[in-house]
Amino acid sequence: MALRIILTGEDAVLRKKSREVTVFDERLHQLLDDLYETMEEANGVGLAAVQVGILRRAVVIDVGEGRIELINPVITQRSDEKICSPEGCLSFPGETGLVERPKSVTVEALDRNGNFFAVTGQDLLARALCHELDHLDGIIYQDHAILMLDPSEVADEDE
Ligand code: NI
Repeated sequence: MALRIILTGEDAVLRKKSREVTVFDERLHQLLDDLYETMEEANGVGLAAVQVGILRRAVVIDVGEGRIELINPVITQRSDEKICSPEGCLSFPGETGLVERPKSVTVEALDRNGNFFAVTGQDLLARALCHELDHLDGIIYQDHAILMLDPSEVADEDE
């Protein structure tokens, strides 16, 4: 495994749409392992491949409930109930914004071997799923933020 460099700020790659993964080989496994290691090193709870400059629809998440890897993920259900909470991003260190997200979402995806699965997340996991899937379409949380917060007043995990 290896740490990868996280793209930050105005890097135009962060605005690009990622392509579907079609090959489930050792190279993909290496990417997922690297994403996870890079996310942990940065104390994040989620990281998308685009954030390390790889425009493929691959994401890792760990909100403290275990490692989740999502390939070609799609949100299939969102709760009507929404929660507004502080949110950050490893690509925008030191920044935090208030973002409204569904309390619960269900995502369908493939695992690293191309097997279908579904995951339903509540609260922080739902937030991380929405945040990371947005990255795959070049959307960053500031696009949804109701308000950007003074970073000295907030401490929260970055995604
Ligand atoms: Ni992010």
